[in-house]
Amino acid sequence: GKVRAPTHIISTISDDRGEEPCYAGVPMSSIIERGLDVGDVISLLWFKRSLPRYCTQFIEICIMLCADHGPCVSGAHNTIVTARAGKDLVSSLVSGLLTIGPRFGGAIDDAARYFKDAYDRNLTAYEFVESMKKKGIRVPGIGHRIKRGDNRDKRVELLQEFARTHFPSVKYMEYAVQVETYTLSKANNLVLNVDGAIGSLFLDLLSGSGMFSKQEIDEIVEIGYLNGLFVLARSIGLIGHTFDQKRLKQPLYRHPWEDVLYTK
Ligand code: ACO
Ligand code: LMR
Repeated sequence: GKVRAPTHIISTISDDRGEEPCYAGVPMSSIIERGLDVGDVISLLWFKRSLPRYCTQFIEICIMLCADHGPCVSGAHNTIVTARAGKDLVSSLVSGLLTIGPRFGGAIDDAARYFKDAYDRNLTAYEFVESMKKKGIRVPGIGHRIKRGDNRDKRVELLQEFARTHFPSVKYMEYAVQVETYTLSKANNLVLNVDGAIGSLFLDLLSGSGMFSKQEIDEIVEIGYLNGLFVLARSIGLIGHTFDQKRLKQPLYRHPWEDVLYTK
């Protein structure tokens, strides 16, 4: 019989051994011929399946809405400073990407984890938020530096509007809104932010689409796929900021002394 040499790598998402590369078994030519888009490619390479149109559209909307948020946010600031230090595209990009984490852009997975756990355990918004407070953990997906109860984040509204129109169920999103209503009663900056909106709505996408088993949803949430959406999206803006600084021939950045409190 055949003797199979042991392999050092297992891979299940793509294959380039045939005439043309395949993403999750789908040949590239078919992706182009069928007019599929980036949302479909993400579905194939991340989730290993084709998703319904409203799901791929939602993924694309997340990417478009998170692509940039001006020069002042953590990621863009790092990228701008790095580009102005004369570094190359990849260095400037990763310098910005490295700021993505629990406070900035990278709270999507934790928002999904905590909202799912609280919803599935039937906790009221009050019980959930107060239990987090007792543990000394800020609620991921809640709070923003500049957005307020009376100046909501347009991205959140657009995502919610899309989901209300196209998703079969928005139960996790409604739960996140209940949490927001409670946190806003405590302080005006404790809005549902874009990370929280994507985290809760992706739970609705996963559970409402009928495309994932309960076990698969748990695995996606546990591994943490969803920060990938922000990383991917914001790369578009960070690359743009790098080109912008180069185009403008900006000199080395040095922070002004006046803006530092020197103290002992
Ligand atoms: N849950 C509960 N209480 C909060 C939260 C929260 N998510 N955020 C702020 N507060 C309260 C706390 O009482 C905090 O006091 P503390 O420092 O003793 O904990 C108080 O508000 C003041 O908070 P600030 O530090 O002034 O808030 P800041 O404007 O610096 O923080 C931030 C903004 C970082 C987004 C914060 O709200 C937070 O950590 N949120 C959770 C993480 C998150 O969702 N990040 C994604 C933001 S959206 C994006 O980056 C694209
Ligand atoms: C962003 O998407 O970068 C912003 O929400 C973060 C910010 O601090 O404004």
